Amino acid sequence: MNILVAKTPTDAEAIAYTLITERLAGKREFVLGLATGSTPVGMYEMFKRDALDCSHVTSVNLDEYIGLAPSHPQSYHHFMEEKLFNDVPFKESHLPRGDAADPEAEAKRYEQLVRSIGVDLQLLGIGENGHIAFNEPGTALDAKTHVIELTESTREANRRFFDTIEEVPTHAITMGLDTIMNAREIVLVATGARKAEAVHHMIENVPTIDWPASILQAHPSVTIVLDAEAASGCS
Ligand code: F6R
Repeated sequence: MNILVAKTPTDAEAIAYTLITERLAGKREFVLGLATGSTPVGMYEMFKRDALDCSHVTSVNLDEYIGLAPSHPQSYHHFMEEKLFNDVPFKESHLPRGDAADPEAEAKRYEQLVRSIGVDLQLLGIGENGHIAFNEPGTALDAKTHVIELTESTREANRRFFDTIEEVPTHAITMGLDTIMNAREIVLVATGARKAEAVHHMIENVPTIDWPASILQAHPSVTIVLDAEAASGCS
């Protein structure tokens, strides 16, 4: 693991953004794995600020809530359009369909798609409980894209995007840990004191499925970019 610690969240985002732009530069084709949540928003602002050329880039997102159509304001489809795709055109963009009639079949379709195109670089955030994508503690190491029941703590953490807790979906389709580990390179960004415990388990403890991000220790090409607060639990 390559671990970089910046002073502020903006500095951490700038480091990760620079790393991504370096990888994209000069490539004729690139597959970029993207995330939602608060962490990547500052980076997506940098894509927009620079009008970054992504016309050769295919994007694949990590996850989507079950039950929300792409047009739903809280769907990850809508989030990605609003925060990035409306302003920065990509060659193609893929997310799982949360409104698929058969979510299990949709998870299989998405897994095949991601496998067939192959992810060059996957951008990740981390949950306070150590989840990556929606792989909650206890998820199987060999999990492919699958349907998952969200923990109450994750629903609480994501409640800020909804009016009431009842509106937060109970299930999602997520890339599995095995799907994520299959990416050629991984960049995980964590900022803020709320992430400090999860960051400590991810980089300083023996890998355990109780802290899913810790399995990234086994990936050959991972960069972890932290701000000072997120790094504050590490020795
Ligand atoms: C989002 C995702 C999640 C988030 C994580 C952190 O696509 O897969 O794992 O990265 O929940 O969320 P934020 O960035 O909002 O703290």
